[in-house]
Amino acid sequence: MNSTSIRLIEPSDGPALAGLLSRDKQAYARWLPARPAGFYTPDGQAAVIESLLASHENGLAWPGVVVSGETVVGQVNISSILRGPFQKGFLGYWVSSRHQGLGHTSRAVGLALRIAEDELNLHRLEAHTQLDNLASQAILRKHGFSSWGVAHDHFYADGAWRDEVFWEKRLTGGHAF
Ligand SMILES: CC(C)(COP(=O)(O)OP(=O)(O)OC[C@H]1O[C@@H](n2cnc3c(N)ncnc32)[C@H](O)[C@@H]1OP(=O)(O)O)[C@@H](O)C(=O)NCCC(=O)NCCS
Repeated sequence: MNSTSIRLIEPSDGPALAGLLSRDKQAYARWLPARPAGFYTPDGQAAVIESLLASHENGLAWPGVVVSGETVVGQVNISSILRGPFQKGFLGYWVSSRHQGLGHTSRAVGLALRIAEDELNLHRLEAHTQLDNLASQAILRKHGFSSWGVAHDHFYADGAWRDEVFWEKRLTGGHAF
């Protein structure tokens, strides 16, 4: 059984994330946005992590890493947090192709849902998947997300605009604001 945990991203995660992201740059071109070359370097990741942690400080995000044993294998992020009458966030994730198919993302999403409710006190999470990202859709469905529509030409990846399914899950938080 492969253990999975998630934790807040740390500045020291830069080299590991740069290694995973650069290794999967081609394999995940279809699913993740294209980035400038510097993004795939430890320095580039250090800058990204600094910005993610600033968003967390400002209450706008919970940027996490997915950990198998002691090894960082991916990222799970709750971003675009809106308070006031919305109390919602946006869920995104990836796991290295070397660690695919082992249930890490599914367990990471389950753990992120607990953080969204218990720590962030959100009332709703949203996510998007491309129409043909069946693994990602299976993970969301398993965790009680429902799809509510398709946005056309919503996401530019690998040289073309892609349609995306929009997903939602209602949570129990968000009443005390
Ligand atoms: C998609 C991705 C997140 C899956 O990560 P993972 O750790 O391999 O996922 P898990 O092993 O936790 O779960 C995969 C689930 O999809 C199912 N699945 C895999 N391929 C499938 C397919 N072609 N059709 C239907 N279900 C499929 C698996 O059976 C599993 O479900 P189960 O737990 O009920 O058996 C990973 O491949 C990835 O990072 N891809 C690139 C980035 C990306 O697509 N991110 C999501 C953007 S919305």
